[in-house]
Amino acid sequence: MTISTLEFNRSWITDQKDHLVNTQKIQFYDLHTTRNEFESDILKGLAQRPAAIPPKYFYDSKGSELFDAITELPEYYPTRTEIGILTANAADIAKRIGTGSLLVEPGGGSCAKVHILLEGLKPQAYVPMDISKDHLRLAAEDLAIAFPWLEIHAACTDYSREMRLPPNAPKGTHVAFFPGSSIGNFNPEDAVVFLTSIAELVGSEGYLLIGVDLKKDKSILEAAYDDAQGVTAEFNLNLLTRINRELKGDFDLTAWQHKALYDEQRGRIEMHLISSAEQTVTLNRGSLNRASFCFRQGESIHTENSYKYSTEEFISLAAQAGFESDALWCDDEQLFSVHLFRQCLSET
Ligand code: TRP
Repeated sequence: MTISTLEFNRSWITDQKDHLVNTQKIQFYDLHTTRNEFESDILKGLAQRPAAIPPKYFYDSKGSELFDAITELPEYYPTRTEIGILTANAADIAKRIGTGSLLVEPGGGSCAKVHILLEGLKPQAYVPMDISKDHLRLAAEDLAIAFPWLEIHAACTDYSREMRLPPNAPKGTHVAFFPGSSIGNFNPEDAVVFLTSIAELVGSEGYLLIGVDLKKDKSILEAAYDDAQGVTAEFNLNLLTRINRELKGDFDLTAWQHKALYDEQRGRIEMHLISSAEQTVTLNRGSLNRASFCFRQGESIHTENSYKYSTEEFISLAAQAGFESDALWCDDEQLFSVHLFRQCLSET
């Protein structure tokens, strides 16, 4: 897929909230993916066996809302544990990086954790990048209200495909912030490719501050991805609702079940949607443009992986992308890790 198919347009935020937002300090960039990519990715994903859908499509506005709810669940320890680690070590982080940086957050759609770092880091500007436009926009506005001194360049983009900085972003030591163990949603080979693109983005002497979930007992992991209230199930199923709405699908939501399992060998949680009966699903995109997919009872659509890493495993993974460990923090229970890496690729 080429970048040239992306539309680039930039506009000042103007809406009712304007009087609350210092518009001199916030810019919004739209580098959105076209609808056709969603369509072709879903058609391809449903046709392959085992069926699989790229997890980035979870995040329509309902999906982003549900994801925020997941982060507050009692079973979902990563968010609160990572926030605890960042809070306890914010001063140390700031001391190591220094003030006046350009802080970039791929996937920073809710701008939630960056709050913890801002007072200490005092970056020159903050660049959240996210695929979910409305979510990003609201979060960036709230952040601008909470930190009126902060220059924000919010970019709606699919960071898994493109890591370009907005054209007006100021210079300064580049720091990439990638919390939430989102790196675990790539398989290890793709994680190295992605981290290499971050290494290129931050440049030599740039930093990467990244949250990584640790390997642990299967029962803790499986509960975190299959909560008692069923929010994670709803999040997973929302993908089918989105396909029904955007691609005129006829998925029967009562005929699919959320399943999370930990594959100890591979060190990953897998999320699936399991077909509870033999069924055919049709996407009715016009009389000549119809696609049907058959599923047997028990057949799965694989929707996400979440890899878990020991601290040593992750340091050697990051080394393959040109990062050198600068510091590492964990919680007392060793549930979660936050690494600070420095880029050590030689200039070419
Ligand atoms: N990257 C985080 C993780 O793997 C958050 C996440 C992404 C998540 N998709 C999810 C959490 C689905 C629960 C369910 O843990």
